[in-house]
Amino acid sequence: MIFDLIKERRSIFPPQYTDKPIAKETLEKILEAANWAPTHKKTEPWRFKVLTGEKKQELGVFLSNKYEEVDPNPKQTKIKKLHYNPTKSGAVIAICMQREPAESLPEWEEIAAVAMAVQNMWLCCTELGIGSYWSSPGLIKYMDEFFDLNEGEKCLGFFYMGYFEGDVIPSARTPIADKVTWLD
Ligand SMILES: Cc1cc2nc3c(=O)[nH]c(=O)nc-3n(C[C@H](O)[C@H](O)[C@H](O)COP(=O)(O)O)c2cc1C
Repeated sequence: MIFDLIKERRSIFPPQYTDKPIAKETLEKILEAANWAPTHKKTEPWRFKVLTGEKKQELGVFLSNKYEEVDPNPKQTKIKKLHYNPTKSGAVIAICMQREPAESLPEWEEIAAVAMAVQNMWLCCTELGIGSYWSSPGLIKYMDEFFDLNEGEKCLGFFYMGYFEGDVIPSARTPIADKVTWLD
């Protein structure tokens, strides 16, 4: 049931990922789910770059090198993690947003539509037993140096994915009642 799936969805990180590859057909199914996100004025602003094989390693090298280059006080643990995360994943999907040239909508609406597409992927991953999470390091502002981004296209993060082992660490939420105002 969708309600259970929503509650079951978790951020699952690369240290738990196994070597089991994610089939292309599975990735296509997950992306198809993304494509059905709601979208104001049907701009469909989500753009995805699917990194598998060697390209994941290349991303790891790029991110760790870039971090060392731009951070005045780079930490070894973070350099390693930036390299490790893409390398350990079965696939990495770069989450991008394509601004419509006419800019007929405020940017936040386009970002919101992309986020809804990501949630669709995340829920699909939950159902398929694939661990995943959205990573949004500050380094995403340099992604035009790694990808061939179009005019008006922006990288909003990475969706790391992998079949996983071990327990899923429970998450919690504060009560919804604290965030809702009923008006009648
Ligand atoms: C837009 C967005 C960006 C996120 N960026 C990061 C991130 O950079 N690093 C990280 O560890 N988790 C990131 N997360 C995942 C959250 O940390 C995670 O969703 C939160 O801790 C709740 O855990 P859950 O997903 O298991 O419910 C991000 C989530 C969202 C929605």
